[in-house]
Amino acid sequence: MSPIIIAFLSLSLSVLPPSSADKFTAYDALQTFNFPVGLLPKGALGYDLDEKTGKFTAYLNETCSFSLEGSYDLKYQSKITGYISRNNLRNLNGISVKVLFLWLNIVEVTRVDDEIDFSVGIASASFPINNFDQCPQCGCGLDCDTVHVRKMKSNAFVSSL
Ligand SMILES: *[C@@H]1O[C@H](CO)[C@@H](O)[C@H](O)[C@H]1NC(C)=O
Repeated sequence: MSPIIIAFLSLSLSVLPPSSADKFTAYDALQTFNFPVGLLPKGALGYDLDEKTGKFTAYLNETCSFSLEGSYDLKYQSKITGYISRNNLRNLNGISVKVLFLWLNIVEVTRVDDEIDFSVGIASASFPINNFDQCPQCGCGLDCDTVHVRKMKSNAFVSSL
């Protein structure tokens, strides 16, 4: 191919919306929709996205659970489905949070300015977006190196009930 065609191709690739092209990771896709990468733990393998409807399926290499700063226990299935649009994830399936002694499915995640709002249907909780700058690691979450400790609001779900 001529250099001009190659330049054109790489230009058009860089402005294309996310697709299931494997160069684009699930983390890139989140950012395209204005979400931070830390909504997904490390170990995402890939994803499928229907660009018309926003319906997606994301795959993790393993079922994953961790505790966020000792406050919330989160559990990710290896397959997560839902609908994504700018600032909004809905009809989510595959991510749950332990509230008191119940595991509740997180059904919707919304970004409002610099806050991320998680809804379990009957209750919701908001967290500053900088809590999601980094991807948590299965097992130890964000506390893997113990240097890095940030407190999340620990009772937000409960107090919004
Ligand atoms: C999944 O991926 C993470 C991050 O890349 C890695 O630490 C972990 O060992 C992997 N788990 C399995 C079961 O391969």
